[in-house]
Amino acid sequence: MPLLHTLLTTFLAAAASTTTALAASTTNTFPSTLNITTLTAHNNQSVLECWALDPGYSTSAQAGVSGTAMLNLGSVTNNATNLLIPGEYDGGRHNAPTNQWVIFLSGVAHITLPNSTDDAWIVGGKNGAILALDTAEVSALGHYTTYPTEESTVVLEIALKEIPGHRVLHSGACGEGELL
Ligand SMILES: *[C@@H]1O[C@H](CO)[C@@H](O)[C@H](O)[C@H]1NC(C)=O
Ligand SMILES: *[C@@H]1O[C@H](CO)[C@@H](O)[C@H](O)[C@H]1NC(C)=O
Ligand SMILES: *[C@@H]1O[C@H](CO)[C@@H](O)[C@H](O)[C@H]1NC(C)=O
Ligand SMILES: *[C@@H]1O[C@H](CO)[C@@H](O)[C@H](O)[C@H]1NC(C)=O
Repeated sequence: MPLLHTLLTTFLAAAASTTTALAASTTNTFPSTLNITTLTAHNNQSVLECWALDPGYSTSAQAGVSGTAMLNLGSVTNNATNLLIPGEYDGGRHNAPTNQWVIFLSGVAHITLPNSTDDAWIVGGKNGAILALDTAEVSALGHYTTYPTEESTVVLEIALKEIPGHRVLHSGACGEGELL
């Protein structure tokens, strides 16, 4: 059962990183920035990359969260959308409708590509945000998304006015050690 094994590994890693985050918050340190799995395109083909948002975290002076870590997610536009996707749903092959944040709050999404063996497992929760930028203008075939577990997936889609500042860390999805 390679799928179950992969999922179990993912969940165990997520549990381990939660412990790390709790430890970090008690010592009042925070990561330099957020790393985001990004669906972008090169040469008319969708690819996965791991991007480090730039600028990274700074210390907030906002009332209510003063002294905590704050990071800008860029300028947004249009209407935000909430989606409820049932378990075991196959989204098929598609392009991003527009440049957008796709924030998975629950469930598990599996993203694969027509022209690459790279894939991404996105587990809903604190590491559930990805950038989907492979619109039909830049990618002929887009990507595939399936929701292979029984759990339903809650998603927020937030259209972007412009692509957030970033550094490309590497091709392929971000790994466990690069996430919160
Ligand atoms: C945003 O939502 C409003 C209210 O439903 C709608 O009238 C408008 O057309 C939507 N805008 C876009 C660009 O979809
Ligand atoms: C990309 O994938 C499609 C669908 O599998 C295939 O038809 C096409 O030849 C591939 N393109 C390249 C450049 O490999
Ligand atoms: C991308 O591929 C599509 C389908 O083959 C083609 O119509 C389009 O012109 C290509 N776009 C670019 C920028 O090469
Ligand atoms: C994101 O990547 C940068 C550069 O590799 C690293 O310093 C940072 O700790 C990472 N962020 C998280 C939340 O792991």
